[in-house]
Order: sequence, then C-alpha cells, then structure tokens
Amino acid sequence: MHIVGARPNFMKAAPLVRALLPGGARQTLVHSGQHFDASMSDIFFDQLGIPAPDVNLAVGSGSHAQQTAEIMQRLEPVVLQRKPDLMVVYGDVNSTVAAAIVCSKLLVPIAHVEAGLRSFDRTMPEEINRLLTDQISDLLFTPSPDADENLKREGIAPEKIHMVGNIMIDTLVSLLPAAARSVPDDLPPRYILVTLHRPGNVDDEQFMQDILRTLEEISRKIPVIFPVHPRTRQRMAGLEGLHGGVVLMPPQSYLSFLALQQRARVVVTDSGGIQEETTFLGVPCLTVRENTERPVTVTAGSNILVGRDMNRLRSELEIILQTGGKPCSVPELWDGHTAERIAAIIGQSRRKHPAGAKNSRGTSG
Ligand code: UD1
Repeated sequence: MHIVGARPNFMKAAPLVRALLPGGARQTLVHSGQHFDASMSDIFFDQLGIPAPDVNLAVGSGSHAQQTAEIMQRLEPVVLQRKPDLMVVYGDVNSTVAAAIVCSKLLVPIAHVEAGLRSFDRTMPEEINRLLTDQISDLLFTPSPDADENLKREGIAPEKIHMVGNIMIDTLVSLLPAAARSVPDDLPPRYILVTLHRPGNVDDEQFMQDILRTLEEISRKIPVIFPVHPRTRQRMAGLEGLHGGVVLMPPQSYLSFLALQQRARVVVTDSGGIQEETTFLGVPCLTVRENTERPVTVTAGSNILVGRDMNRLRSELEIILQTGGKPCSVPELWDGHTAERIAAIIGQSRRKHPAGAKNSRGTSG
C-alpha cells in the first residue's frame, strides 16, 4: 500500500508504483486528500501516469492536529481491511506521519522514501514529521549520505538504511522530453522564477511585504514569474499593491513547471523539492530560508541559502546574472534509477519476511 496526499508526494510515488509492477505485488494507492484542488492533485496524476487512487480519504485541510488525526481515523479501517504487507510513505507531509503512526500500531511494516533529511529546525512542521516517521519505519530509503549520517546518529539500525538516490529525479529524467513540448506561450527569453509556500515565510506578513517589494523592484530589470500556491494566495490577499510588475499565475502542472525551471535564469524558492530539481538541472537557485534539510544541494549543487535577508537576495541575484552562477554537480545516484533500486530492496525484504510473518495487532489489543 502506498499513501500520497500532497503535491510533492505524487512525483515520488509515480516511479515506484511503476517499478514494483514487474514483481507482481498487488498495490493499493491511497490518496489522503490533503491536497484537493485539481491544479494541486489531479493534473499530477494525469501527467505522471499514476493510476487513479484505489481509496480517497478526502480529508481536505485543517489545523495540523485536525488534518493528521482525520487521516489516521480514515486510514485505519482501510489498513485493517486490506492488510498490506508493507506501507510505503513519502517525504515529510502530514499524510506521511499519519500513515506511519497508524501502520506502526497495526504492526504493518513501513518503508519511508526520502528518509533521513533534517533541517535541525523543529519550528518546521515537516521536521517533526520526518523525525517521527523515521523512528517508526522499517526500511529507510535515503537520497544522500548526509541522510544516512542523521539516521545513524538518531540510533536507527544501519541495516534498515539504504541510500538509493533521489526518486524525484526519476520522474524529472523521464519527463524532461515531454516538458520540452510544454513550454508556456509568451515566455520571455530571460526571467526569474519564484515559488513561496512555507508557513514560516508566507504566514509572516512583514516578510511577505518585504519579498513582494523586492520582487517588484527586480521585475523592473528582468521579468519575474510567480506561480502562486493556494496558501500563499490566501496570504497575499490585501497585499495587491506590492507586486505590480511580477507576473502571477496559478499553480502550474508538473510539465509546465519543469519547463519553466529549465529555462529560468535563477529560481527563488522556499520549496524542498525545487532545491533538488534545480541542482539536477544546473539552474541557479536562491533559497529564502535560513536552513535546508537538503545540504547536498548547497555543497554540490546550484543552491545558495540567502535566508530572509533581502539585501543578500539582491546581491546574490546580481552575481548570478553577471556570472551565470557557481559551479555545480549532480549528487551521487541522482540518476533516474532510484525506484528500481527501491523495488529490488523491497523484493529482497519480502523474501526474507514473507507475507503473514508479522501478525496484525488489530484494534482491541
Ligand atoms: C503541504 C506540506 C508541505 C509541502 C506542501 C506542498 C505538510 C505539513 N506540509 O503544505 O510540506 O511542501 O504541502 O504544497 O504536510 N489548499 C488549497 N487547495 C489544495 C491544497 C491546499 O486551497 O489543493 C489550501 C488549504 O486550504 C490550506 C493551505 O492551502 O489552507 C495549505 O494546505 P496544507 O495541506 O495545509 O499545507 P501546504 O501548505 O500545502
């Protein structure tokens, strides 16, 4: 059984669902419904070729406790009824931790894809989700050596940890040719691409005012394109005056956004996945956060952390526009074959622990 719920899960699940097909295991795909807009969910299923979910928990949004609890309550009967031999959870969203808690108590083994990433910033909801999910997972699939180190330091048994590379890059590699055919009309020859959605940034009105003013100023020199996440759109209501020259657009599909990233001079973001995608593409990325759970994108890749300092953002941007950005390389095993490696390890672990070897605890024990 796989659980997905929010936009960044879909590109991680797609290649693994496909890679597990030849092994013949029956697969159930559960969508928690954490993201529900067509532009945040359906279009990704279409473009990534993911089968329609077998089960949709349709939880929608809410506070963290409400959303997480609702996913747990609605998922438990599905797990009890379908009795999966393995639950695969992805990334660090509320759907990830909710499914991990439900399955660990029902003694269903858990595989965590994208384990071990740490920002060391416990004010981020995702960091809490990462820490808890990794502690109760049985197979931990990591994208980079720093993640292995983090897990070992937290006492995870080394035999559970498998460095397999970055599964999002599998999707990117397979869809780059299609993205080349999805370039939006009227794209300027040079532009800066912006995304912002972290609560720590967009829920802070002063930061939003500062960055919108800065982007507006930058847009007088070079066009700025900004697809706006629903959370950010809610926070921008009332700040209309501040982003005059910036081109705002709705959340983009996977293919259009990939095409936009590939052609951008610079990407300005607070997303996790975009730090990785720009590193693979070799496109300079300025991350408006004080920390990153993906340090390899800074040490090897094209990413620079500018924090929330708008002067630093302006000056790093100027340097990139003049020099083309710092030298960068693609991290080890970010090669488009991560899902195959995960499928092989899952296959081996099924042979070691065949179905039924672990009894379900049920609800009353
Ligand atoms: C979630 C993830 C975050 C991930 C992001 C990608 C958690 C804790 N956070 O954050 O790690 O980077 O997804 O987008 O799981 N909304 C809509 N339509 C939608 C989805 C959301 O209008 O389809 C609105 C919701 O009503 C809510 C806001 O956007 O007010 C935020 O959605 P939510 O799922 O709470 O978290 P994200 O900020 O998207």
